[in-house]
Amino acid sequence: MISNDISKAVQLLNEEEVIGFPTETVYGLAGNAFNENAIAKIFKIKERPSFNPLIVHVKNKEQIHEVAMAIPDLAYELIHQFWPGPLTLILKKQPHISNLITANRDTVAVRMPQHPVALELLNQLSFPLVAPSANPYTAISPTQAIHVQNYFQDKIPLILDGGPCTAGIESTIIGFEGNKVILYRLGSIPLEAIEALTGKIEIKNHNEKSPVAPGMTLKHYAPKTKVVLTHWTDEELKNQESKNIGLLRFSTFHTQIQPLQQRVLSPKQDLKEAAANLYQALHELDQLNLDGIIAERLPDYGLGRTINDRLERAAKNN
Ligand code: TXA
Ligand code: MG
Repeated sequence: MISNDISKAVQLLNEEEVIGFPTETVYGLAGNAFNENAIAKIFKIKERPSFNPLIVHVKNKEQIHEVAMAIPDLAYELIHQFWPGPLTLILKKQPHISNLITANRDTVAVRMPQHPVALELLNQLSFPLVAPSANPYTAISPTQAIHVQNYFQDKIPLILDGGPCTAGIESTIIGFEGNKVILYRLGSIPLEAIEALTGKIEIKNHNEKSPVAPGMTLKHYAPKTKVVLTHWTDEELKNQESKNIGLLRFSTFHTQIQPLQQRVLSPKQDLKEAAANLYQALHELDQLNLDGIIAERLPDYGLGRTINDRLERAAKNN
């Protein structure tokens, strides 16, 4: 059930239940981070393999100490600049943090979300919230309460409504190895914005068979419909064999294909707007029973790079 009732959400979370809740990036499937029954329920509902660790969401910068320890100075600088916001840090975990959350690692992922509903909820709880994105494993992430409802109808008692997510793509994930900063996942904070503070960041290869951040599995964020990511010209698109295809475009409609089958991410070529619209557009195209979705590659910098990363993974369902 979609609802605005924060006190009901508090009650359910206190009773070890799992609920849907909004963040500025995507909706999450939340439970008490200090309760193993709740954590286990999240994995079950999401059908997520137990080797894929979860992010802990804190209500303020101080609460990080309930979750992580031995925090490097550079992490504090990043927190100062980017929290609340879509930056997740991988840090040494406090001993009491459950191995279910971390998939037996000695590190834990933490972030402070920026959404007013998420913060109000967290502030009424005596524990942080552990929450993966509220989609079945490898499916498109939800950016509206209705997406969560469509995925998990009867499996969760409540979805808190916070409107459409303003950032629309998951948080950027950063970790530390000695003095080195590592990027585990491109996300809603552009890599360049973080590098302005940290210097050049090493990017862990996303394409390994056993990826370092398991969320970087190749196939992810994928619609049921086949996706192709291209640099095709309008002429090449026009010559497609099937006419029952959908187009995902950056800023302009293709004139030869029915407008119904096209989604334009940002007519004014604003990458932030494009990011906010990406998953909604994929959800919509996926519901049209198309033979395929042809996605246009965006400019490969800033959030354009993050969007291309998601489209590449979506295209791995072929
Ligand atoms: O924006 C977001 O981050 C959203 C909202 C709900 O906060 N959450 C989200 O969670 O995207 P999820 O579970 O879909 O992705 C979490 C990612 C996964 O790729 C996981 O492998 C990685 O975080 N992760 C978690 N703990 C980790 C750790 N200790 N080391 C490396 N990667 C970790
Ligand atoms: Mg996810």
